Parts: sequence; structure tokens; C-alpha cells
Amino acid sequence: MLIFKKNQTVGIDIGSYSIKVVELEHKKKEKILKNVGLAHIPPGSLVQGDIKDAEPIKNAIKGLFENLKIKNKKVVVSIPAISVITKKITLAEREDLNIEEEVRREAEQFIPYDIEEVSLDFDIMGTSYEDEIGRLEIIVAAAKKQLIEKYIRLIQESGLIPGIIDVDIFAMQNAFEMTERLDPEVCYILVDIGSETINTNVVKGDILLFTRSSLLGGDQITKRIMDEFQIDFREAEAVKFGLKELEKNKERKVREIFRETVEEWTEEIKGSIDFFYRSYPGEKIKELFLTGGSSRIKGLKEFIEEKIDIPVKKINPFSNLKVSKKIDPSYLKYISAEFSVAFGLALRTIGDK
Ligand SMILES: Nc1ncnc2c1ncn2[C@@H]1O[C@H](COP(=O)(O)OP(=O)(O)OP(=O)(O)O)[C@@H](O)[C@H]1O
Ligand SMILES: [Mg+2]
Repeated sequence: MLIFKKNQTVGIDIGSYSIKVVELEHKKKEKILKNVGLAHIPPGSLVQGDIKDAEPIKNAIKGLFENLKIKNKKVVVSIPAISVITKKITLAEREDLNIEEEVRREAEQFIPYDIEEVSLDFDIMGTSYEDEIGRLEIIVAAAKKQLIEKYIRLIQESGLIPGIIDVDIFAMQNAFEMTERLDPEVCYILVDIGSETINTNVVKGDILLFTRSSLLGGDQITKRIMDEFQIDFREAEAVKFGLKELEKNKERKVREIFRETVEEWTEEIKGSIDFFYRSYPGEKIKELFLTGGSSRIKGLKEFIEEKIDIPVKKINPFSNLKVSKKIDPSYLKYISAEFSVAFGLALRTIGDK
């Protein structure tokens, strides 16, 4: 049995609405999209980043691997940023600096639970200079060991081998860097609007300057439609997707739910931008990039653009790839909204940190 084919990576994004899988082949001069697929999971299986019911998630993963005939067993998977504490710290450079020790010492200050219970990871983003003293800028990510173990078990029980455990916001950033032609001197804001969460990153070059996760997303709309019309999740989704004919007053109500929710999301994005500008007064955000299933909502892009006065675009993670002949281009175009994270995960090569 072939366990791990060199130069091919499979990324799995475990979302609260669906599981997404991307298999990439990394060639010297290009990347080839070998497989891509998505499977829905029942609501309540994954709640606020925590696995509540592993069985349907495992079945969805196994089903995807079978249907897509993916042979690779070693995978890159992410945990959601909503369950990770990220913080930027700076450390003054000195000869005997032990970064790991210092990161741990700093983390003890901002982590609200016992340091022994968390797994720490960090990345050096760059060095700034003040009075000729170099200061390392480091992003620290801390997640509960128990949560990481749950994800590892889930992957193993799906018959796979967890190669790398990443965080979804870092994967989104990777996907973005790979896809767009960027000016390294200006800032961009990336917003992933999923089902349960909105993740926001502000990046400059390959540096993550700001990140925030909030419990907002498309599920808010579905839940309000369920409550309003006393219908179940599937029916409410059909209403949301415009697949059901409605009486005029109901139609008006649905529009109102959409508008109110989208206004709330826009306020959230505005809040992130204001906070960012307060922390980095000299910086300017050039463009906003949207991704996530809920970014498909009709008129959303224009609505945000009008309210925040920054040009809004959508990330298409598949735009710079060679695509396997077996993948239908129109299907690929449609699903691109949801695949930034899974694609960003598949960009990692196992053997990376
Ligand atoms: N055409 C559409 N119109 C409106 N909403 C849509 C459309 N397509 C997808 N959605 C919504 O997008 C959401 C799913 O997005 P996505 O797959 O990015 O979420 P997820 O990654 O599973 O969730 P999360 O990251 O929040 O855990 C659902 O709420 C779904 O109803
Ligand atoms: Mg998601």
C-alpha cells in the first residue's frame, strides 16, 4: 500500500458546515490540482471549533477519500482559529536568547489556563530595529493539547495519518499569498465568512499583522429562518439559497434577515479595521479579499465595499494551478469560495515545521 506519495499533499479543512479536501501535486515549476471535493456534515457535529460528534465527520472524510480515490494517507489538517489563542510578541535580540524559553515565559502571561495544558507554536515574522537594537517579531499560537489530540484521533480513526496540524487562518494566508499578485509594501485584509465563524487577517508581505475570530457566519441566517418559519435546517437552507418559492411577506422577511445579518458582519469587519488602524497608524489597507461559503451571498461584496470604502475582491484559490482533466471547470469555479483553507493546507509539504 502506498502511504505517502512524495510531492503530493492532501489538505483537509474541517468546517462546521462541510469538510473540504484538496490534493495537490507539487512539481518544480507548477502545482497540479489532482483532487478536490466537499462533504456536508450534520449541524451540531462541530460546534465552536470543538468536535461534538466525531462519527459523521469521520464518515464524511472516509467518503471523500473513497469517492475521489485518494491514495495518500498522510494529510495536513487545521484546527479552527476560534479555539486558538494567537498573540504577537516582540523579543529583543541578544546573544544568549533562547526563543523557545522566552515564548513560553511570555505565553504564561496571556494564556488563561495552565501552560502544561497547552501546545505552543510560534513563527518569527521579522525583525524591527529601534536604537540599533533588533527586535524579533513573533506570532505565538496556543491551543489546548486536549483539542489537538481530539483532531489527531479523528484523523487516525478516519484511516489517515496526521502529518501537520495547522491553524485555519495561517492556511488562508498561505493560499492568499500563493494566489494573488501582491504589493509587499501595503496591507490587505482577508475575511473568511463561513458558517459559524468569521476569521479576519490583516497581512503585509508574508507577515500577519492582525487576526481576529468571531462567532458569526451564515448559520445565523439559517437559524433565524428556521425560527421565523418553524422549519428544519434543510428547509431553511433551501429558503436561504432561493430554491423555494415564498409568499411576498415571507420573502420580505428573508430579505430583512439577510440585510440585518450582513450589516452585523460589516460592523464586525469595520471593528477589525478600526482596531488595526489604532495599532498601526502609519499603515493603509489597499484591498479586502473575501472567501468562505457565505461570501457567495448575492450583493455582499458590493454592500461591504460601499460601507467600508475599500475595494473588495474574492479569493480564487485555484487561479494559478494546472488542473487535472477529471475536474469539471465550472464545478471548480463554483466551489472556489469555500476552498481557501483546504488549498492553503495542501500547499504545505510534509516535512515543513
Ligand atoms: N450561495 C449561497 N448563498 C448563501 N449562503 C451560502 C451559499 N453557499 C454557501 N452558503 C453558506 O455558507 C456557509 C458554509 O460556508 P463554509 O463552507 O465556508 O463554512 P465552514 O468552513 O464549514 O464553517 P466554519 O469555517 O464557520 O466552521 C453555510 O452557512 C452556507 O449556508
Ligand atoms: Mg471554514
